[in-house]
Amino acid sequence: MSHDDFPTESPAVVTCGLPYANGDLHIGHLRTYVGGDVFSRALRRLGQQTAFVSGSDMHGTPVAVNAEQEGVSPETFALDWHERYAETFPKFNVEFDNYGHTHDRTNTETTQALVRDLEDAGHVYEKEIMVAYDPVDDQFLPDRYVEGTCPYCGEHARGDECDEGCQRHLEPGEIDEPVSTITGNPAEYRERTHKFFAVSEFADYLSGFLDRLEGTSNARNQPREWIEQGLQDWCITRDMDWGIDYPEDGAASPGKDDGGSERDLVLYVWVDAPIEYISSTKQYTDRVGSDVFDWETAWKEGVSEAHPEGGEIVHVIGRDIIQHHTIFWPAMLEATDHAEPRAVMASGFVTLGGKGFSTSRDRAVWADEYIDEGFHPDPLRYYLATNGGFQQDVDFSWEKFRDRVNTELVGTVGNFLYRSLLFAHRNYDGAPDVDATSEEVADRIDEAIADVEAAVNDYSVRALGDAVTDLARFGNEYIQRNEPWRLVDDEPENAAQVIHDCVAIAKAIAVLFEPIAPAKAERLWDQLGESGSVHEVTVDEARRSPAGDLSEPTELFEKIPDERVDELNEKLEARVAGAEEGERDDDRDDGSEDDETDDHTDTTDDDTTDDMTDIEPISDDRISFEEFQELDLRVGRIEDAVGIEGADDLLELTVDLGAETRTIVAGLKRLHDVDDLPGTKVIVLTNMERAELFGVESNGMVLAAGEEADLLTTYEGAEPGTKVK
Ligand code: 2FM
Ligand code: ZN
Repeated sequence: MSHDDFPTESPAVVTCGLPYANGDLHIGHLRTYVGGDVFSRALRRLGQQTAFVSGSDMHGTPVAVNAEQEGVSPETFALDWHERYAETFPKFNVEFDNYGHTHDRTNTETTQALVRDLEDAGHVYEKEIMVAYDPVDDQFLPDRYVEGTCPYCGEHARGDECDEGCQRHLEPGEIDEPVSTITGNPAEYRERTHKFFAVSEFADYLSGFLDRLEGTSNARNQPREWIEQGLQDWCITRDMDWGIDYPEDGAASPGKDDGGSERDLVLYVWVDAPIEYISSTKQYTDRVGSDVFDWETAWKEGVSEAHPEGGEIVHVIGRDIIQHHTIFWPAMLEATDHAEPRAVMASGFVTLGGKGFSTSRDRAVWADEYIDEGFHPDPLRYYLATNGGFQQDVDFSWEKFRDRVNTELVGTVGNFLYRSLLFAHRNYDGAPDVDATSEEVADRIDEAIADVEAAVNDYSVRALGDAVTDLARFGNEYIQRNEPWRLVDDEPENAAQVIHDCVAIAKAIAVLFEPIAPAKAERLWDQLGESGSVHEVTVDEARRSPAGDLSEPTELFEKIPDERVDELNEKLEARVAGAEEGERDDDRDDGSEDDETDDHTDTTDDDTTDDMTDIEPISDDRISFEEFQELDLRVGRIEDAVGIEGADDLLELTVDLGAETRTIVAGLKRLHDVDDLPGTKVIVLTNMERAELFGVESNGMVLAAGEEADLLTTYEGAEPGTKVK
């Protein structure tokens, strides 16, 4: 790994967190997969050699518990879901170079070899610990077979993670008041011998690793706290028969019980899951040959003279699995001479209409449903990639989706392309032949390319999309300002130059939009009469003059009518009502608890009943328009954001207001990622009276909505200083 700007000479591997093969995917699950796909495509557009890999997570209790509920073997259950996932991702143009699974031979062998290496290097030891056991059912209760209370925060938690509270990984035996999730029986603790990986020996290494780690800031900040609090060693075996067997070496194996006979003992699912990143890359090399992509150069230290530190490993994950990717996994890699990850991009969650997705209440937009409703995948990719910074939560509603599709994809990008290409086609039968693209437009295309390069190096998927919509916005302004329809008769040369420039912008849009909207970019590429595939070119192609031949343009994006949104909302509401009714019937039948089975990396599950009733009533006290006009509201752009000493919530913002730059104090510190704020456009009440807070004078007020301080912003090109009216 290097820390040079992308593109580098080393091979890159972009991975996406492995989904547990245990249930339907909804659009919230797609966020990290779309993010990983966008990022890997963008790396390729910069000319970086890249492998994009993932696979299904087949083992562990998330799969075993659900299979047991279905009455099938975990293997049959998980393979079935694996095959479905392998078909679903390409429907969203998420094209992995290899999509494997953790139960295949490659991963079994790679995992067992890596664990042997850990042992040989002296990082594994045995210890007797207490593990949960159901005395009535006579079975051990690893991980999700047991629930109880988190010893750290007191919230209800699963056996291996505090999913509803502090999000910590929990070791066997840690959970208080354990209860079996299968039978509801109170569990007791029994002594067992298990294997431990000495993660605590790596505390110094991990501190340095976090200082070097790139990606989103949440992936560095949270683990630093965990290290400061002291790292615990990690139990890497489980009393189960579903999983990868602990590699036997005969003697002191925990694969035998105390009387010397065989006992079911497998590796903890979180050991073999990330190793699938390596196995999946291996399978890719096996398929394409090491001259195309060499997995060893990418993953191992010291095998390649040219890249002794290995490749550029970038992990794209949901923020609930940061600990696994920034503590356990890098320690395993370091202990076995593998490459150190260069970056971890940890996404926020996805909500649906402000609340969590709920599998059991059918409160979700399912991945297959989205496609079956006739929607193209690329608008959803655009929405998920650009609706917020990568580490911020993204809310989906059909209304918001419609607004962004209609305004940005249809109104800005599609509109520019259609009007320019139609004009070119009708008047010139293609791109007019001129000497070169004008300096103004060539510079603007260079700027868009620089924006894309910066976005990749900032790991900002959102900025990759913004670079293109900004370029299309410029295109609309350029054609409007130059009015080629007026020039065409009297100043034909100038008209030809303007239209040539517009086709050049369209070509740049095709290249730069490929990561976000690959299928639409390819269609545009064909319309532009360019040869080959847009998936093969690099950003340099965006600078080259357009080919010339244009086919009759068609609208690239379709508007979503309001009636469609109403219809989709009605369907969703009817389904939720149906599921709740079914649940009540089930409860009457068997008195069972919620059948929540969903478990993937990047969504929240919120099964609370409707909490929207908390909204304050709208005030009856009217104000006059004149009174409203007394508020001097302006668009601002945050230039800088720093914490204020002694104040837990406050940030000192430097805000560009066009005519001047001001210091404004705002209570955003806990609610926003400080690193994400610079560059954000906000609405500022500029004639708010001055106030001094913690010794800093605040000169204005930044507007935000609700308890989460959702920042008010603008959606088009309004520049700092623009009045809000
Ligand atoms: O939390 C999960 O959904 C896990 N299946 C993620 C595994 S990611 C990786 F390490 F393989
Ligand atoms: Zn907790």
